[in-house]
Amino acid sequence: MLLLYLSHCGKRQSVKLYAVTCEYINGEKQFYAQAQDFYKTVPASEEGMMGDFIEISEIDLEGSRAFLKKFVGGPGKAGTKCALDCGCGIGRVSKNVLFPVFETLEMADMMEDFLNHAHECYLGDDADRVECYYCYNLQDFTPPLNKYDVIWMQWVACHLTDKDLMEFLIRCKASLRPNGIIVIKDNMARQGCKLDPIDSSLIRHLDIVKNIIYKAGLEILGVERQQGFPEQIIPVWMIAMK
Ligand SMILES: C[S@@+](CC[C@H](N)C(=O)[O-])C[C@H]1O[C@@H](n2cnc3c(N)ncnc32)[C@H](O)[C@@H]1O
Repeated sequence: MLLLYLSHCGKRQSVKLYAVTCEYINGEKQFYAQAQDFYKTVPASEEGMMGDFIEISEIDLEGSRAFLKKFVGGPGKAGTKCALDCGCGIGRVSKNVLFPVFETLEMADMMEDFLNHAHECYLGDDADRVECYYCYNLQDFTPPLNKYDVIWMQWVACHLTDKDLMEFLIRCKASLRPNGIIVIKDNMARQGCKLDPIDSSLIRHLDIVKNIIYKAGLEILGVERQQGFPEQIIPVWMIAMK
């Protein structure tokens, strides 16, 4: 893990290494258990999904819709049959970004309460178009082969260690249909890599995330910073890959 981090960082000098995410000592399980404990305290609501930042939800969704549009529908682009929302929570992204575009959706999250709330309440009639809810930790989840036009991962890549993220991306690649794409949207550190010990998330510099993507054998199609967020918020970037 140490070597992997250093090679990610190339010339960057300021990366800190956190034992808690290192798989060769007993920390990794602690990293995931801490996130589970954290999300048990999070309400199944839009406010819960957005932390303290509900006021940026609409602009976030607008940015996602515009980004998605560039890669979907049309010759050589991703189709519109089925998408997978990973770390979907109650389905904020599913409802506002993915349902308007795709015929059917599948949704994956580790918290059963969030998936139940999505199905029974939040998604309304759109719930009929959800083919499957997967209550899984992404690090243990293998999505079905050759199934999705788009796999969306928003604010959840940060909850996986480098190695688990790389391996999950490899499994996601195998589950794409022809011309299918994966999108990561996440907080990206201005420098290096930081651990938030409260929710067990890793805020990585964009270059570190790009290196994980390359190591997973994926090609980056587009990278864009989310516009319109207040300056004091950690930058959020969208990366499309295939
Ligand atoms: C900040 S919320 C974002 C929810 C949604 N993507 C959105 O943008 O509204 C993060 C979500 O990731 C889920 N999550 C965190 N770690 C996970 C893991 N290892 N496997 C699966 N889901 C995870 C949490 O349960 C939570 O629903």
